[in-house]
Amino acid sequence: MKHRLRLGVLGSGKGSNFRAVMEQIIDGRLDAEVRIVISDVDNSGILNLARDYQIPSLYVRPGRFRTKLEPEVEEDIVRLLLEADVELVVLAGFMRVLKQPLLSAFPRRIINIHPSLLPKFPGVESWKQALAAGEKITGCSVHYVDAGIDSGEIIAQQKVPVLPDDTPESLHARIQIAERALYPEVIATFCEA
Ligand code: GRF
Repeated sequence: MKHRLRLGVLGSGKGSNFRAVMEQIIDGRLDAEVRIVISDVDNSGILNLARDYQIPSLYVRPGRFRTKLEPEVEEDIVRLLLEADVELVVLAGFMRVLKQPLLSAFPRRIINIHPSLLPKFPGVESWKQALAAGEKITGCSVHYVDAGIDSGEIIAQQKVPVLPDDTPESLHARIQIAERALYPEVIATFCEA
C-alpha cells in the first residue's frame, strides 16, 4: 500500500542530493517526508540546508576514526533514527562506511548514491577514475549499503557519456545532474514497498 515514506538523511557535504529530494517532495512528485538530517561534519552545507527547510538536524561527533564512526556514535544515530520513526535511511554524500549496529537496525533499508557504474570505480573521486581509465560511458548507481565501500547490491543505475574534451569537473557535473534525477526516482519505489 502506498504511504508517505519517512526518510532519515545522513550526509557530510554540500547536500545537493538532499536538496534534489526535498525539491521533489515540495513539488508533490515524491510522497515522502524527511524526518531528520544527521551529519558527521559540523556546519556542513547539508545541515544548513536542513535548517532552511526547517527539518530537525543534528551534528554527531564522529569519534577517533577517519573512515567509520565510533560504535557508540552509530548507536546514537540508530536511536535518533528510530525516535524519528524513519523507515528508509538515505545516504547523501555521507563519507563514512557504516558498520553495526546501524546496518542491522535497518536491513535493506539504507541506500546510497555513488558517482560511477558500480562495481566499477568504488571509493572516492570515481569520475576521475573513469576518466583515467578511458571509459566512454560512466554514470551513477543507487545501491543498498553494506559494511564495504560502495559494495552493496545495486538497485538502479543511470549511464552518463564521457565526452572527448571532458575534464574531471565537467564529467562530475554531468554525473551529478543524473544523480539528482535518479535518487528521488529510486526513493519513490520504496513508497510502494
Ligand atoms: C554525491 O554527488 C554522491 O555522488 C556522493 O557524494 C556526493 C555528495 O554530494 N555519494 P552532495 O553532498 O549530495 O552535494
